[in-house]
Amino acid sequence: MRSKLNSLERDARVMRLSEELIEIEQRLIPTGLHILGRSAEQREKADLLRMVASFDRPEQGAFALPSLVAEALGIDGYDKLVQERTTSETRELVEGIVAEAVQRFCEAGEETASNWLKSRAGVDSEKSLPTFSMLKLIAEQLDSNNELESLMRALRGEYIVPGPGADIVQNPLVLPTGRNTHAVNPYSVPSHAAFSRAKATADALLCRYMEEHGRYPRALALVLWGLDNIKTQGEGVAQALWLLGVRPVRDALNRATELEVIPLEELQRPRIDVVMTVSGIFRDLFAPTMTLLDKAVRRVATLDEPFELNYVRRNVSERITEGLSEFDDAVTRVFSNAPGNYGTNVNFMVMDSQWESEKTLGDLFVTRKCFAYTRDSSGRIVEGREARHLMEDALSRVEATYQNLDSFEVGITDVDHYFEYLGGISRAVEMRTKSRPAIYLCDSLSPQTKIRSLEETVRLESRSKTLNPKWYEGMLKHGFRGVAEIENHVANTFGWSATANAVDPWIYTEISKTFLLDPIMFKRLLELNPHSVRSLTNRLLEAHNRGYWNPDEEVLEKLRETIGSLDDQMAGVSRSHDADTSVAC
Ligand code: BEZ
Ligand code: MG
Repeated sequence: MRSKLNSLERDARVMRLSEELIEIEQRLIPTGLHILGRSAEQREKADLLRMVASFDRPEQGAFALPSLVAEALGIDGYDKLVQERTTSETRELVEGIVAEAVQRFCEAGEETASNWLKSRAGVDSEKSLPTFSMLKLIAEQLDSNNELESLMRALRGEYIVPGPGADIVQNPLVLPTGRNTHAVNPYSVPSHAAFSRAKATADALLCRYMEEHGRYPRALALVLWGLDNIKTQGEGVAQALWLLGVRPVRDALNRATELEVIPLEELQRPRIDVVMTVSGIFRDLFAPTMTLLDKAVRRVATLDEPFELNYVRRNVSERITEGLSEFDDAVTRVFSNAPGNYGTNVNFMVMDSQWESEKTLGDLFVTRKCFAYTRDSSGRIVEGREARHLMEDALSRVEATYQNLDSFEVGITDVDHYFEYLGGISRAVEMRTKSRPAIYLCDSLSPQTKIRSLEETVRLESRSKTLNPKWYEGMLKHGFRGVAEIENHVANTFGWSATANAVDPWIYTEISKTFLLDPIMFKRLLELNPHSVRSLTNRLLEAHNRGYWNPDEEVLEKLRETIGSLDDQMAGVSRSHDADTSVAC
């Protein structure tokens, strides 16, 4: 019996391992920086087209290729299968056929691809041709590149044709590039499509929390960004509304300004309390949406429902009963910077190593973001009133934090903004609740709504980017800038230790082995950009000094030596430079 159980456990582990490997293998990563004026390469183009073809586009009469293939093969419930965590032979079969069809399309055009799909999977050409025609247009637009010409026109102060700002997979109308990006009509947010995708994502988020904690979170903190909600037409906003259990209603001018309460029987779960920390860009672009979110919390707080099914009402009533707050204060959930201010500054503090303890970072986040966007007791709109105690109170009930990832190209270690926001809020919550919240992210662009913990996401990004030779060799093609990008990734990874203790020590070990302890790589990096090598080495030493990594003494010695010899080298360069200058004088 015991050995049977062990072998089952072993099989389950092997299965999980295989899923993780497949996930890393299939993850889309940028293999170099974008060069202005240069079109996408063939492989990159095929990957993009495959992603574009994974979604139905009813407005263009085009169907998702995976659904067409599944239907033609007689596979029932394929949409559900895609949402499952485990990969299956069926999914691999369908995805393999789609990948091959897109490859054939790239090589020989729409007719050939459509005919091949008919013979391989029995998909009617009538059904697949509209999708391939759409891909043809996109492929042509990917090949034409007006970026340099538009840049020159812009520099001459000439007119630039406008185009929507979004992700290409979400909205292929962003092509051709090189146009003047415009945003969205804030009143159109969230779109119908965004709301239906948000339901799946928010349900998956609650499901994941439930699996790990055996109950729903008392309150969630969401990070909402402007560009992200432009790209997804308001998925983040829609997630907040769905968690609260309301849906947007359009007025006579088709503006999403009203709300409808979703009955508990339909929701089939409690209404979750949501604290929204909103970027300065979001606040500037989506003023009516800020009002909608505030209105949603107020509406839910006043519903006549039992506390165990309406956490907003429970939390608000608790504060009022304790005599700690009036209704208008107790219900405040939308926070951002003071008007005219942007960002949390947590990233700058981490990058400059200018912080005493993790508490400093959590405090800074609240100091920057504690401005309430709400209404006062007479119903007047309040735009950015300092409300530190209200934010601290709202955060003191938060049990999980969440942010969407809106692009395959920019992930949580590519830029410092993810850790300044999601890391910053998580640290702020931890300080108030004295326990680390569960921290989650989701790729809002893939057909599969996969919720990952922050730790899983850091591991995935490290394996698929920072430690992946395909990624770093792609960067190194850019010489000096490429090494700076590698260093940036290490610094941003460190940001996740500083704000959320989310980095496994082995990641630092592998970084040091890959970039500093391998003599050939070390020499290459030094020749290309000694400044970034110095910063990278210093960052690893800082990770050790702050207790995030405990390498062997030998490794530490090597890192210290590297800093010493680079300092000597750089001092030598500056001395000889001084000597040159004095001669010239
Ligand atoms: C935003 O889109 O709101 C955003 C973008 C970059 C950094 C922070 C926020
Ligand atoms: Mg940097």
